[in-house]
Amino acid sequence: MKKRILKMLICPACLPEEQDLNPHIKAEKENDIVEGGLSCPRCGREYPIQNGIAFLDPNASHKTQNTPSKYENAPVLSSYLWSHYGDLLKDENATAAYRDWNNLMRPSPGIALDAGSAVGRFTFELSRKSDFAIGIDNSHSFIRTARELMLKREKEIQLQQEGLVTRKTKVILPEQWRNGNMEFLVADAQALPFRSGSFSSLASLNLVDKMPKPLKHLQEMNRVAKPKEAQFLFSDPFSWSKEVAEEQDWLGGTHNGPYSGNGMENVMGILNGREDGLRPKWHIQKHGHVWWKIRTHQNHFELIRSCFVKANR
Ligand SMILES: C[S@@+](CC[C@H](N)C(=O)[O-])C[C@H]1O[C@@H](n2cnc3c(N)ncnc32)[C@H](O)[C@@H]1O
Repeated sequence: MKKRILKMLICPACLPEEQDLNPHIKAEKENDIVEGGLSCPRCGREYPIQNGIAFLDPNASHKTQNTPSKYENAPVLSSYLWSHYGDLLKDENATAAYRDWNNLMRPSPGIALDAGSAVGRFTFELSRKSDFAIGIDNSHSFIRTARELMLKREKEIQLQQEGLVTRKTKVILPEQWRNGNMEFLVADAQALPFRSGSFSSLASLNLVDKMPKPLKHLQEMNRVAKPKEAQFLFSDPFSWSKEVAEEQDWLGGTHNGPYSGNGMENVMGILNGREDGLRPKWHIQKHGHVWWKIRTHQNHFELIRSCFVKANR
């Protein structure tokens, strides 16, 4: 983990208190902490840093770091690598979604946050438009893979072809992509380990319907965004599921309750209209949808209509 982000970090378990963390460095290389930890003097939690990866998810105890989530298995990892970098592989079926989302972001000084970054494509895009970009995800294998790409600038992929047959290919980052001004952390997008007002550019892509407390995620993005001169790109297909969140916590897709009806209208209301919405208010610049694609195997793709809203304040 790059040392320069230490000053932004707080204990996510102590929120809403913003408690500084004390670093313990066992091994470092240039400006990177390779082995060590961060401890909270308030609650006593220890957040390990292993192989350069900081584990700042308060829900994942250190012991469970090897428990795989749905996103930890090899086929899902290869699906996401294809989805994020298929254009670099010159695959004719590659999705243009990341280019479309990227076109919605303006270059902006300051630090950018990509929440639920998976294997990092949008974090790379944000790093090219900001001074520094941070991708966070609660999947260890996604963050490990994103960091590997950041450090080595290439990554072999085993693409699923059919049944047990895979095809080996390699993602190589274009030379003009920077990798010195970015970092990836394991963290929970519902309890962000960052000080209030840290970010000038923020993205939450295809994440809100994947978490137990969607509203908490939006409130957290709002907390860590600068009160002024900030931009926020939100996009989601609103695939609500009881396996992920209780119906009463969905932000759309129900018949009753404060967030019944249409998810997109509700999110826009939370951003800039509702009395119980976010403050300072966001101004909606644009909304629409982006076609996003995930590949399962050579003859099976999932086409997803991800509805976006781009907001500024
Ligand atoms: C559908 S994927 C979208 C990935 C990426 N944003 C994109 O659009 O390509 C959802 C991502 O959110 C991550 N995720 C799910 N719950 C999370 C949480 N509570 N905190 C952080 N990341 C989470 C998953 O590991 C996964 O990488």
